Amino acid sequence: MRPLKTLSIHEILFLLAHRWLRRSRLATAGMILAVISLTIGQAESSAEVEYSPSQGRWAWTGAVTTDAAVIKGGGAVDASPDLLVSEDPDFENTLRVEATTSLDASRLGRAGAYRLEGLRPDTHYFYRWADLPEETKPFGRFRTMPRGEASFTFAFASCASTGSNSPVFDAIRQHQPLFFLHTGDLHYEDIAENRVERFYDAFARVLLASPRQNLFFRDLQVPYMWDDHDYGPNDSDIRAPGREAALESYRAVVPHYPFFHRDSDPLQPVGQAFSVGRVRFLIPDLRSRRTHNGLEDGPEKTMMGPEQLRWFLDELREAQGKYALTVFVSGVPWIDSSNRPDSWAEYAYERSRISNFMVEHGIDRVIMLAGDSHMVAGDDGSNNTFADDGIGPGFPVFHAAALHRRGSTKGGPYSHGTFPGSGRYGVVQVEDRGDSIRIIFEGRHFEEGVLLRMEHLFEVDPE
Ligand SMILES: [Fe+2]
Repeated sequence: MRPLKTLSIHEILFLLAHRWLRRSRLATAGMILAVISLTIGQAESSAEVEYSPSQGRWAWTGAVTTDAAVIKGGGAVDASPDLLVSEDPDFENTLRVEATTSLDASRLGRAGAYRLEGLRPDTHYFYRWADLPEETKPFGRFRTMPRGEASFTFAFASCASTGSNSPVFDAIRQHQPLFFLHTGDLHYEDIAENRVERFYDAFARVLLASPRQNLFFRDLQVPYMWDDHDYGPNDSDIRAPGREAALESYRAVVPHYPFFHRDSDPLQPVGQAFSVGRVRFLIPDLRSRRTHNGLEDGPEKTMMGPEQLRWFLDELREAQGKYALTVFVSGVPWIDSSNRPDSWAEYAYERSRISNFMVEHGIDRVIMLAGDSHMVAGDDGSNNTFADDGIGPGFPVFHAAALHRRGSTKGGPYSHGTFPGSGRYGVVQVEDRGDSIRIIFEGRHFEEGVLLRMEHLFEVDPE
């Protein structure tokens, strides 16, 4: 049930304002209505949820759209139990969902995949395990994506030591973001062996062994793209010995959006895209198809691989016409004028190819979210000049890391400075105003609060 007390007060206020509006037709009454509606929205979204205990189980929600979601989860059970799903945290009306796939995933236990369809946009859903009837509290929740012009808040960051139980995960949940975008280094196992169990065990240390992360993944939907340490060894690429196993474990455990290639070749990269309101998120896989850092730079040297790059450029061009904003997610620093290996500096040919493409096609409503370097940092675009014209592509770049890892500074220069250290994450507010879209980025520390705040306004041309 909804919090009756809160709602009834709001409803009374709403009705009174509505009557007043009908009688007086004053513009101010309309404003009061808007404020009350907003308050109702906030009251619903900020509702604290009391979850059932973990009991050795885990869940991870992803691939959320306006009307669908995928939950992967399980634990120490012989067969994947059904999930009960409801809009109501008291589970008055429930939908029973069976696992579509179920596999034995080493220390993760049994991992089931649950596909939820026919959902309503911008709506909270709660779920619990059907085989634990005594547990009536939700095990987890998520919120479907809004449709059309919509304002929303999300969080992002990378880099946490394996199985970290840092309070940073609680701090992020406090913001109640629509989702948390994990930009890599989910763990630091540096697996250099082609055994999928090693990857399942690494996931288990994150999703099961850490109480705070266990709850984090049940409370927030988490789109995720790996970086080097959770895909393979430090600075890893296509030659990583565990590549095949890494890709297999990603497909099995991560609730992901459709891959860009739409085929079933298990060795294709796991790059993907998704939409929220009028914002398009592009999360290419910059590891599993990446050629060797030590190669001489040129057309053969690539982070994305030719097929993924083609898809990525098509997405950029299409999004400029179809969406108000494109978010380019890069695990590694983009702005880097050094010749340090692993960042885009050593893949400068591909970086300028993307930059020139953006200039050529007038793609000018883009931001980047970046990770890898253990710092909060920001650039307003003034140092993002990798196109041949010496000005473009000029999109702003926001860095947020490390969740829980010692600090480091990479790349730059950054117009708004660097704030290296641990306990860091980014919160991004997207305000869609129809003819413009405003982005507010806050790089935060879980105790110190805001370290860096940046705003950027994009004009959206009428179609
Ligand atoms: Fe890292």
